[in-house]
Amino acid sequence: MKAIHGRYALSSIALAGALMALGSSGSALAGPRESSGGVQAKIEYCETCHGDRGQGFYGYYAIPRLAGQQTGYLENQLRDFSSGMRHTAIMSPIARSVSPSMYGAIAAHFHAMNSAPLGGGSGGNAALGRDIFMNGIPESNVPACWACHGADAHGSRDIPRLAGQLPSYLINTLSNWYQQRGTKSEHGYSALMVPTTHNLTRAQMAAVAAYVSGLH
Ligand code: HEC
Ligand code: HEC
Repeated sequence: MKAIHGRYALSSIALAGALMALGSSGSALAGPRESSGGVQAKIEYCETCHGDRGQGFYGYYAIPRLAGQQTGYLENQLRDFSSGMRHTAIMSPIARSVSPSMYGAIAAHFHAMNSAPLGGGSGGNAALGRDIFMNGIPESNVPACWACHGADAHGSRDIPRLAGQLPSYLINTLSNWYQQRGTKSEHGYSALMVPTTHNLTRAQMAAVAAYVSGLH
């Protein structure tokens, strides 16, 4: 009788153990732990190029800073890279490998980073850049940048932060705006920059880049 009881007890312990194993592997496969593991792996992949503090990187291409970037803007860019509305050979396939359900968590991760600007020269005149940023260039129909990007150049929601961005990335972006983003983003924000990019000379772009890239 004792022996039967013992065997019975043993098998229920084994069963409980099996259920526990099933339960934990079940939640590891389908539960929230799996999806946050997936997001973490993606973030580590992003950081191999964008820097482990999201500070950007000077490689063959200038890889932009993501640290402190606005979440609405980040999510819009991932959507546009993925749909092809924003054309780049490098980011489009990468964005397509990210599930849209991860955009929010990835954007929140980079937004929360507060890394110091990477610096690097733009060859531009930062004092002239500050003047353009604060006052625009009325005779060329260039609006004051701060009116949208904020006096601290931190942006808000769908309007990007420019503070601390790599100057060579800023110059490339401003000079290739129409080719890269056109006017057709689904959210409509890219069109807001078309007149500005059209009316800035290269020296004026370099000046603004010199100014905002040094802001934190
Ligand atoms: C192989 C290197 C590489 C990897 C990996 C990479 N990126 Fe990029 N990323 C770039 C480059 C280069 C650009 C600049 C593209 C351009 O504008 O020409 C860029 C641009 C961006 C931009 C636009 C920034 C802005 O200010 O408009 C975002 C957002 C972005 N990447 C997010 C991500 C995320 C999220 C991941 C991870 C899922 C990632 N990137 C992985 C190289 C990379
Ligand atoms: C009317 C509002 C507005 C004004 C004024 C404005 N911007 Fe923008 N800017 C935007 C919006 C919105 C975006 C995001 C576009 C998108 O999502 O494609 C943007 C994007 C940018 C980007 C791309 C950032 C990145 O990370 O790729 C740069 C650079 C930029 N603006 C610089 C400037 C400069 C320099 C000025 C002033 C000469 C200026 N902007 C004036 C609204 C504005």
